[in-house]
Amino acid sequence: TSLREEAAKKDIIIGSGAINPTYLDDPQFAAVLALQFNSLSPENEGKWSFFNPTEGYYNWNSLDRLVDFAEDHNMVVKGHGLISSCCNPDYVLNITDPAALRAAMTAHFEAFMLRYDGKRVNRWDVVTEALKTNGSGLNTNIFYNVLGSGYIADAFRIARAAGPDAKLFINENLVESLPSKRQELYDLVSGLVADGVPIDGVALQMHITEVAPIPGVITDMVNSYRALGLEVTIAELDVHTLNATLQTDIYGAVIEEALHAGITDISFWGFTDKHAYTWLLGAKPLMFTECYEPKGAFYAVHNAM
Ligand code: XIL
Repeated sequence: TSLREEAAKKDIIIGSGAINPTYLDDPQFAAVLALQFNSLSPENEGKWSFFNPTEGYYNWNSLDRLVDFAEDHNMVVKGHGLISSCCNPDYVLNITDPAALRAAMTAHFEAFMLRYDGKRVNRWDVVTEALKTNGSGLNTNIFYNVLGSGYIADAFRIARAAGPDAKLFINENLVESLPSKRQELYDLVSGLVADGVPIDGVALQMHITEVAPIPGVITDMVNSYRALGLEVTIAELDVHTLNATLQTDIYGAVIEEALHAGITDISFWGFTDKHAYTWLLGAKPLMFTECYEPKGAFYAVHNAM
C-alpha cells in the first residue's frame, strides 16, 4: 500500500512540502506525489517576494499550478509561508512606519488567503522561524524591527481575519533538539494564547541531522501544547545523513512516536533524493532515491503507520 492509503485508514494528513511546481513536469515526480501523499505545500513559491515582488502586483502562476494539481488529485494544501525568514521584497524592506507595514501585511495576506482559503488550502504557516536559529530571542527581521515582538500577534490576527476557516500555525525549527529553544517557543506560544491571539498550533520543521530527538520529547510537546488547546504537527521532516541505517531508524522512530502521541498532520520536506529536488544538496535526506525507488526510510515510515 501507499503512505496515502495508510493515512486514509487513520484519517490523517501525510504530505510533502518543498514542492516546486516545475517538478510537476517530471511525470514520475507527479505520479509519486499523487500516489503517496494527500497534502502538499510549496517550497518557496508562497514566500512573499516570489509572488508579490512589488506593491499591488501578484503573479499566481506557480501557486495556481500547485493548487490545481492538488485539486486534480484530491489533496489538501498547506500555505507556506505568510511571514517567512527570507524572501521579503524591497518594497516591504523599505517600510519604516508601523501602520504602513501592518497595511502591507494585510494586503499580502488577504490576497493570498482570499485566493485559496476555503478551496484547497486548509492550513497556513503564518510565522516561520520567529526565533533565532539556536534560540534566545526573536529573529530580527523587518517585521520585528518595525513592529517589535508584537508583529507575531499582529500576523495571526491579520491571518484570522483573512482566513477564518483555516488552521493557523507558527512554524519553528530545531526545537525538538534544543531544550532551551523548546522552552522559549513554549513561552512565546503560551503568551500568545494568554493574549487571545488566534493560533491553532505549532508546526515542527524537524530538519534532522544525525541525531534523533530524545524519545519522549515529541510526546511531551504534543501534551503541553494540547493543554493550551493547540495542535502539534510535523511540517518539514528530512533526515540529513548518508548513513542509511541511521536514517531509516530516525524516520521510523519519529513517525512512530508522532503517531503514538496523536499527531495527525505530518509532512516531509520533499520525497526524492534527486539532485536539486531537495534543499540539502549532495545529501540524500528523503524517502525515495533519485530514481523514485522507496528507501529504507520509506518502509520504516510505512511500518510505523
Ligand atoms: C528552504 C527551501 O527549501 C530552499 O529552496 C530555500 O533556498 C530556503 O528555504 N524551513 C522552512 C523552509 O520553513 O521554507 C525552508 O525552505 C527550509 C527551512
